[in-house]
Amino acid sequence: MAQGMLRSGHVLRFTFYKIYLTMGEFMAALYDPLIAPLDPMGVRKWREWVVGAARGRVLELGVGTGLNLPHYRVADSVAAIDPDDASLRRAFSRLNGNRARVALYRASAEELPFAAEAFDAVVDTLVFCSIPNPERALREVCRVLRPGGTFRVVEHVRLRNRILAGAQDVITPVWKEIAGGCHLNRDTLAMIERAGFRVRAVRRHIGGLFIGIDAIK
Ligand SMILES: C[S@@+](CC[C@H](N)C(=O)[O-])C[C@H]1O[C@@H](n2cnc3c(N)ncnc32)[C@H](O)[C@@H]1O
Repeated sequence: MAQGMLRSGHVLRFTFYKIYLTMGEFMAALYDPLIAPLDPMGVRKWREWVVGAARGRVLELGVGTGLNLPHYRVADSVAAIDPDDASLRRAFSRLNGNRARVALYRASAEELPFAAEAFDAVVDTLVFCSIPNPERALREVCRVLRPGGTFRVVEHVRLRNRILAGAQDVITPVWKEIAGGCHLNRDTLAMIERAGFRVRAVRRHIGGLFIGIDAIK
């Protein structure tokens, strides 16, 4: 009897695991077609702005399905991390000619598996909205970036208009449940400043909904 229960427990767990894996694959497969309509609105250009100028040893946070990978031009090496296996598999299939200089890691930004001051540049696009503990992730970015190293990101952020920001506050609790933990209302610029980075340039896009930040440690 006990053995039978154990077996059905295993089957349940196995089925749950299979569904979970399938969901992960499904979400990763959906990501590219869902984000593609944003390209003509500037997202493709912002990727080039963030990644194209990254030099030396580069760390990319939240690489996702690897949409930034074709835009690296002058980096010597790229370490790209993401906690999501299904997305990493897609990023891997996108490496093509970049295999020698790009290494993919399953890791979270809050706990980076790299030595202090290991990188000349850290980049990310559309990631700080979904990191569960963004302050901790910024401390990690600070740790692995060499003094004078660059930190360049594009994020969607909390709007400066109080009424619209209030709407973002209202929508976020539901939105983050259906959109992989994405918060619509994070003030990422303020977090980056509080973490001690020196912000050199800020570019606002689409009425400040998206923001490009160029900072230095
Ligand atoms: C909206 S997607 C952006 C993907 C990619 N950067 C892009 O621009 O297409 C957000 C990514 O952040 C990743 N992510 C979520 N939590 C994270 C964490 N704690 N550390 C690093 N990446 C994380 C997700 O797995 C997902 O791939």
